[in-house]
Amino acid sequence: MTILLQINTSMQETASQSSNLADKVSEKLLTKFADMRRIKRDLGKHPVPHLDHDTFQTFLDPNTAVTSAQKAGLARSDILISELKDAQILVLGVPMYNLMIPSTLKSWIDHVTRAGQTFAFTEDGPVGLLKDKKAYIVIAQGGNFLGTSDDLATAYLRSAFGFMGIVDLEFIYVQGLAMGDEAAKAGLHAASLAIRALI
Ligand SMILES: Cc1cc2nc3c(=O)[nH]c(=O)nc-3n(C[C@H](O)[C@H](O)[C@H](O)COP(=O)(O)O)c2cc1C
Repeated sequence: MTILLQINTSMQETASQSSNLADKVSEKLLTKFADMRRIKRDLGKHPVPHLDHDTFQTFLDPNTAVTSAQKAGLARSDILISELKDAQILVLGVPMYNLMIPSTLKSWIDHVTRAGQTFAFTEDGPVGLLKDKKAYIVIAQGGNFLGTSDDLATAYLRSAFGFMGIVDLEFIYVQGLAMGDEAAKAGLHAASLAIRALI
């Protein structure tokens, strides 16, 4: 069985273009591969809290998880990591918020990027411990930032996932969503074509 983990990160629900297109990507993959099962996580509706001092101590040494908050914090990270490890395919819906990814996604990354679990530091530097995963990342933008110096999200996600060993990434962009009906329509059309070409 192949597990597809879909992570939506928009603050919107049915109106979210990144979530809708992430659904489209997942559904195409689910149709193509009969043995695939989807797990969905919605960080817009159920955000992962910021990683804080007390929880981080438990990442360094699980024996320091003494308070109920620490135990819950460590358990949360364990669950998110096992969800990620179990999945062979990742599909992310990612709106651009203030020139970056949503902070909820950054929080999720902080909880799953754990030494000894998803990466290790060696004499040669950091090594990603996750192998053989493919990620499809839909980035939705009100503007048109692809290929500009303000497209920080693409570079960041490539580095953050690469740090854990996830290097096979496909980016799909839907742009111009706040630039009028024509631009939005063209952006959605281009994204649909990109999905069709990929899967
Ligand atoms: C808080 C906030 C910040 C935003 N910042 C940007 C931005 O920096 N650049 C941009 O192109 N669009 C920006 N937008 C527009 C969103 O990227 C756009 O509406 C996109 O469709 C949101 O994704 P969604 O449809 O999946 O919710 C912002 C929207 C919100 C709500």
